[in-house]
Amino acid sequence: MKIVKRISIIDAKDYVDQEVEIGVWLTDKRSSGKIAFLQLRDGTAFFQGVVLKNQIGEEKFTEIKHLRQETSMVITGTIHEDARSHFGYEIEVSSLEVIGDSNDYPITPKEHGVDFLLDHRHLWLRSKKPHAMMVIRNEIIRATYEFFNQEGFIKIDAPILTGSAPEGTTELFKTEYFDKEAYLSQSGQLYEEAGAMAFGKVFSFGPTFRAEKSKTRRHLIEFWMIEPEMAFMHQEESLEVQERYVAYLVQSVLDHCEYELSLLGRDPEVLKKYTKLPYPRISYDKAIEMLQESGQFPDVKWGDDFGSPEETFLAEQFEQPVFVLNYPKAIKPFYMKPHPTREDVYICADLLAPEGYGEIIGGSERETDYDKLLAKIEEAGLSREAYDWYLDLRKYGSVPHSGFGLGLERAITWITGEDHIREAIPFPRLLNRLNP
Ligand code: 4AD
Repeated sequence: MKIVKRISIIDAKDYVDQEVEIGVWLTDKRSSGKIAFLQLRDGTAFFQGVVLKNQIGEEKFTEIKHLRQETSMVITGTIHEDARSHFGYEIEVSSLEVIGDSNDYPITPKEHGVDFLLDHRHLWLRSKKPHAMMVIRNEIIRATYEFFNQEGFIKIDAPILTGSAPEGTTELFKTEYFDKEAYLSQSGQLYEEAGAMAFGKVFSFGPTFRAEKSKTRRHLIEFWMIEPEMAFMHQEESLEVQERYVAYLVQSVLDHCEYELSLLGRDPEVLKKYTKLPYPRISYDKAIEMLQESGQFPDVKWGDDFGSPEETFLAEQFEQPVFVLNYPKAIKPFYMKPHPTREDVYICADLLAPEGYGEIIGGSERETDYDKLLAKIEEAGLSREAYDWYLDLRKYGSVPHSGFGLGLERAITWITGEDHIREAIPFPRLLNRLNP
């Protein structure tokens, strides 16, 4: 018996003019009297299969003409170059065995509304665009591990069930923890601070939860955050890590996801601008001044937090992502370190992405003094008992330290140029969506 090599579609380029076997699903088809064109996918890529009636035989050809969308099968055939297709290769099918039938697949090649697609997200993931988005998501995760490992960080996982609330108590998901109350983590930061005191440079990468009643194209209820934390490091050095990291992500996607970017219609020339360092830095004070001088924000005043229109306007003034430094204390969390010469602001920064994507990173230098931190915890109305361990970090060899959090889905949405953050995560949790 002849042994035919089983390959993945993505590797077709290495098997031109060779006979191979592939496990596939049918996404679409069209046929005439003598020839059928099958659109196929196997999870790694999409391409076309060509079936000739006089080669496969009349009976099989009739069976193939009646195959339905998402039927799974194993095909054998010869790979050819196909300059007309996006993918560049196709297979001339010599045999085909159906594995699993499919009936009335709900996502047809016609246009569907977003709610319908989200209701069928478990199936929608099979389509081309979600496929490209998830491949790019995977690349950004891969590049994240590569970057932080190269820079000497180690990954310290933060718990998901916690007794503390780093980013404010209004956005917490509460849950029972036997006879106690627990929260779903809003941020791994406080644990990463403990990690930094034990290992120097650490990062976490995990899901975080915010019970925000906002329904915008930038907010998820459950999102993934990368949170590096660095001992003996001041804010200026942390900003350098941040910009190197973001440029590394963009470059990695450019290097490894050319096909997916083209499928999404994202121009690589636009992305190339974001690999240029350093990124500009402006103060919060300057940002307020720019907003006021624009005439577009008549009510804006010092002390206001920025919404999406303000962030978009500020980002539009620059070619690259821009750091906004030193926000007023009243609009930032308790753990930040006050500015040495300014009573009213913290040593902190947000990184705003170009093209209206808003804040992708929030970070700061951390308060290092035990008494000041305790006063802030009490002022914020937080339970001292829940933060005793966090205060310990200031009791035993406290050092300057800084860190930041990058929202994975915000970064993906920006890098891919998509409209809505729901496209950047396999199963989005939105205000009114918990299924599938
Ligand atoms: O600015 P945030 O709230 O900062 C923190 O949580 C810090 N503890 C991070 C740290 O210093 N270790 O959130 C950080 C980032 C934001 O810049 C944004 O990219 C993302 O997390 N983010 C969200 N992404 C999607 N949906 C939401 N609801 C988000 N809220 C924040």
